[in-house]
Amino acid sequence: MIDPPLHRPLALPAFVLRAVGISTLALVAVAGLVAGSGSGSVVASALVSDACATLPSTMTAVLTSGSSPDGATSGGWNLRLSDDVPVPCPGAGQVLVKVLTTAVNPVDWKLEAEWIPGYVRGVAPDPAANPALRLDDPAVGLDFAGTVAAVGSGCEAYGLVVGGEVWGESTRGYMGPWIGSPSITELPGFMYAQYGLAACDAIGVRAAGSPVPLREYAALPVPAGTAFDALRMSGAPWKKEDNVTVAVASGAGGTGIMMIQLAKALGARTVVTAASPRNHDLLRALGADVVLDYHEAELWEGMPENSVDHAIDNFGDPGTADRAMRIIRPGGTFLIMPAFKGESYTDTPKPGVTQLPYLGWTATRADSDVLSGLVETGKLRPVIYRSMPLAEVTDAWDISVAGKLTGKILLDVPQAA
Ligand SMILES: NC(=O)c1ccc[n+]([C@@H]2O[C@H](COP(=O)([O-])OP(=O)(O)OC[C@H]3O[C@@H](n4cnc5c(N)ncnc54)[C@H](OP(=O)(O)O)[C@@H]3O)[C@@H](O)[C@H]2O)c1
Repeated sequence: MIDPPLHRPLALPAFVLRAVGISTLALVAVAGLVAGSGSGSVVASALVSDACATLPSTMTAVLTSGSSPDGATSGGWNLRLSDDVPVPCPGAGQVLVKVLTTAVNPVDWKLEAEWIPGYVRGVAPDPAANPALRLDDPAVGLDFAGTVAAVGSGCEAYGLVVGGEVWGESTRGYMGPWIGSPSITELPGFMYAQYGLAACDAIGVRAAGSPVPLREYAALPVPAGTAFDALRMSGAPWKKEDNVTVAVASGAGGTGIMMIQLAKALGARTVVTAASPRNHDLLRALGADVVLDYHEAELWEGMPENSVDHAIDNFGDPGTADRAMRIIRPGGTFLIMPAFKGESYTDTPKPGVTQLPYLGWTATRADSDVLSGLVETGKLRPVIYRSMPLAEVTDAWDISVAGKLTGKILLDVPQAA
């Protein structure tokens, strides 16, 4: 197989190529096993196999040759575009999605750059027990918008039909070990690809007539799902008469843009946030009532004492919890959305302020339906910073690492015939 490097020519050492070869074979084996397992119905299995028989056998996808520990600082990502990756067939409870657009989330390159401890690093739990996210797993990418290519057995209740427009994240529960789940993930993350598997009980559906084009739904899954989940843990939905003020540390990125809109949609009366001045008008238009310039003073310094009910740190500076306590009212909450940058909760919270141990969103159909509904009614809209071809993924990751984007980078996937 010839895998042209993406933009930057990388001399791949033999052991890396070997690792990829093994992983690709493993992928084929997993796809085969999944397709044959636990359908509960021979007829259903046969139908799924028939549906898969009409699909191409191989596809174009971005593969990683293993981790790029210095990738985030050197730009030396070990990513390659391959055009002979086997197309998986959905197993029980799975949908095969023909991916139109995927999106860059910081977690994509943080996994690759070895920023995330524990389940990928092999610190705890043992990665051997969780093979889906081992370092030599070639799969990359979580979020997608696309159409249903094939539906696995056990998905009858979800109203999914071939050709239907869907969005979501490929991997459910990848934070599994931290939230007590026995497995890291039920599906390998793999949406930087022409086809990818998703769970039918978590996938979102785009309604006909939605004001947002299908491709832009790829901006939703991780950012909107996480923002929704974090706000819910903070007490949302609220009644307007509760007069709730929500503080969002970082307003203009993928999660901030979703959190501002969702906080308002879920009943917050006031939303305060911080961003560079060039983004202030946009954030006000999306619902933010107060937007500070964090270059002048970070939110935790710039807001008056006891002025906020629920503070969410979606940036992750070390020491934020200590500094944030001043502005949170007794009875309020402080939540960190893990960014793996050295952030931590404080040992000395203000009396009456609860620190909420948040980990990450596990996609569900119920949550996806709520988010779809908000998009359809114009209460939640994606903001696209840039659209790039999938082949430019390394450039896209470099932009994401630089951390100055407004909204999301979408990656357009070349469409199979
Ligand atoms: N644990 C989870 O489940 C989870 C889920 C999603 C995201 N995350 C993490 O949450 C973080 C945010 O994600 P994201 O997708 O929103 O990232 P992002 O899109 O890369 O965020 C970029 C934004 O950060 C802003 N920013 C830069 N420096 C800042 C500062 N000092 N204070 C406030 N804002 C600043 C920039 O604002 P300006 O352009 O205005 O300067 C830019 O708009 C990431 O670390 C991500 O890994 C965790």
